[in-house]
Formats: sequence, structure tokens, C-alpha cells
Amino acid sequence: MIDSHAHLFSEEFNFDLDEVISRAKANNVNKIMSVGFSIKTNDLAYDLASKYSMLYPTCGMHPSEAIYDIKELLTNLEDFIINHKIYAIGECGLDYHYDVDRNKQKILFEEQIKLAIKYNLPLIIHSRDAINDTYELLKKYPKCYGVMHCYSGSKEMALKFLDLGFYISLGGPVTFKNAKTPKEVASIVPLDKLLIETDSPYLAPMPNRGKRNEPSYVRYVLEEISKIKNVDILELDKITENNTIKLFKLEANRA
Ligand code: NI
Repeated sequence: MIDSHAHLFSEEFNFDLDEVISRAKANNVNKIMSVGFSIKTNDLAYDLASKYSMLYPTCGMHPSEAIYDIKELLTNLEDFIINHKIYAIGECGLDYHYDVDRNKQKILFEEQIKLAIKYNLPLIIHSRDAINDTYELLKKYPKCYGVMHCYSGSKEMALKFLDLGFYISLGGPVTFKNAKTPKEVASIVPLDKLLIETDSPYLAPMPNRGKRNEPSYVRYVLEEISKIKNVDILELDKITENNTIKLFKLEANRA
């Protein structure tokens, strides 16, 4: 399995990251995307990936960073892209859940779409309560590609993102008993467009809902989707691994 989205630099892992990584390996997780989302965490995500070769670093500016100077964020990000081997731009996107100026969010997001095209990198998209605006911005740029991370929108919108060529990544919420929409989305996403993730330390799947999430739990996501789609779990594992490797151009051995 590949966990296509985790934040292992988070302080929740300060005391036992070695064990977390060992448990991931023991549960057949062989690669983890180390996803940054700010000036500070882009550095942390990269540094961790230098220490653990199963981690593949990304860098981006989360919409909540739009409270800061946008120009400065973007200059910092482009410098980072130029000077580091990274595998995606993100996470970036739009988040209307919190009160952050929407215009500034859109500028920050759109500029990262342009950077992704300029450096031919996939995008990791965060979208919360902003699915229509997210779609409209991505649609403007036919050359951009990537993944809708921990996708939480409707199946109708999922089809539209699939039309743009985007992958759909599902995480912990697909395992929640009352999660009708993510389960519907899982049922309609074509196998060759599906990724799995944890978003560790957030959004732990059943039966660990509410606890700290970690990459080894990605197996619960895989299990649930294999039931929903009625696809053999080993086959689904192979397919989602291949999808992730293809999207992010992951080498077999990074070290
Ligand atoms: Ni995340």
C-alpha cells in the first residue's frame, strides 16, 4: 500500500515516529507521501523524507496561509521547488470553512496551479466547503493535473473532476458508518483513478475514529473500498499503488 497523503512532521508524532514508520512497514505500507502545507512544514516534510527513504516529499501553501503576504509565500514556494526534489505541489486549494479572505485564497491557489504547470508537477488539492470554486479554477488550466485529496464532495462533482483528468483520493471518512457520500464516490470512481490515503494525524478511519491517525491505518481505507467496489483487496492494493506511482512519478527506490 501507499499512503498518498500524510503529515508525519506533525507534533503528534514527536515521541514515536520510528515506531509509526515500523508499524507502517509491518502492515505492507511501502511508500508515504510527506505533504507540506506552509513555509515551515514544507521544510519539515522534506527533512523527514531525507531521514526515511519511504517518504516522498511535496510542498505547497494551504489556503489558511492566505492570511500572510501572498507574494512572499509564492516566492518562497518557487525557490523551494527549484532547490529541492519534490513530487507534487500541495497541498493547496480553497477552504471556506474558516474565515480567510476568499479572494486571497483564490490568488494563492491559482498561482500554485501555474507553478505546477510551469514545473510539470502534479497538484494535491485540498477543498473544503468550496468545491465549485475549486472546480472552476482547475477547469481554467487544461494542462494541470493531480489529485483531489481526501475528497469530500458529491459524486456528481467527482465526475466533473474526473473529466478534468484528476485522480480522487479517499481517506478515513469512507469507513465511517454514516458516510453515505464518500461511499457513493468510492463506488463510482474508476479503478484507474483511485488513490488511498490517511491524512495522518487527522481523520483516522474506523475502528480508530477519533484517535491519532497513522499510515498503517490506510489498510482500513483499502478494505472498505474493496468491499464497496467488490474488488479483491490484493488487486485493489496493486491498482491503487500503481496509480500513485504513475501520478507522482515515484521511483522504486528513492534512496
Ligand atoms: Ni492534509
